[in-house]
Amino acid sequence: MDMKHLIEAARDARQRAYAPYSSYPVGAALLASSGKVYTGCNIENASYGLTICAERVALGTAVAAGEREFDAIVIAGGEGEPSMPCGACRQFMTEWGKPEMQVVIVSGQGHRRDLTLGDLFPHAFSPASLLEGAGK
Ligand code: THU
Repeated sequence: MDMKHLIEAARDARQRAYAPYSSYPVGAALLASSGKVYTGCNIENASYGLTICAERVALGTAVAAGEREFDAIVIAGGEGEPSMPCGACRQFMTEWGKPEMQVVIVSGQGHRRDLTLGDLFPHAFSPASLLEGAGK
């Protein structure tokens, strides 16, 4: 799986965003350790707070298909500057993503930032934190 293919899949998913309220479409393509790719787009709602981000749609789809390990995610959003994942999505990714999971953010203009989940969300509260907190 090359990064070019994953970027194309995220941009393609962005075309399917349902974003009538913000007019801010986002697409995500997630590479599972199995080698399969799962995509997502943001899905908004007339009750605005129910909006689901593209990253969480992709992760939910993958987890529902039985995936639990991920190597990379590409997020495609924004025309100028690449769109950074929101705090809720960083926490959601942390449930399954290791700190070394690649997070690649691309914009419509072709700007690209290569990060890791650990860069984006250091000192995260993770499943391991729960075990440590319980003295296990
Ligand atoms: N959005 C995402 O899809 N991912 C993020 O990480 C940040 C924000 C969406 C939610 C909403 O539909 C639109 O972008 C504007 O906030």
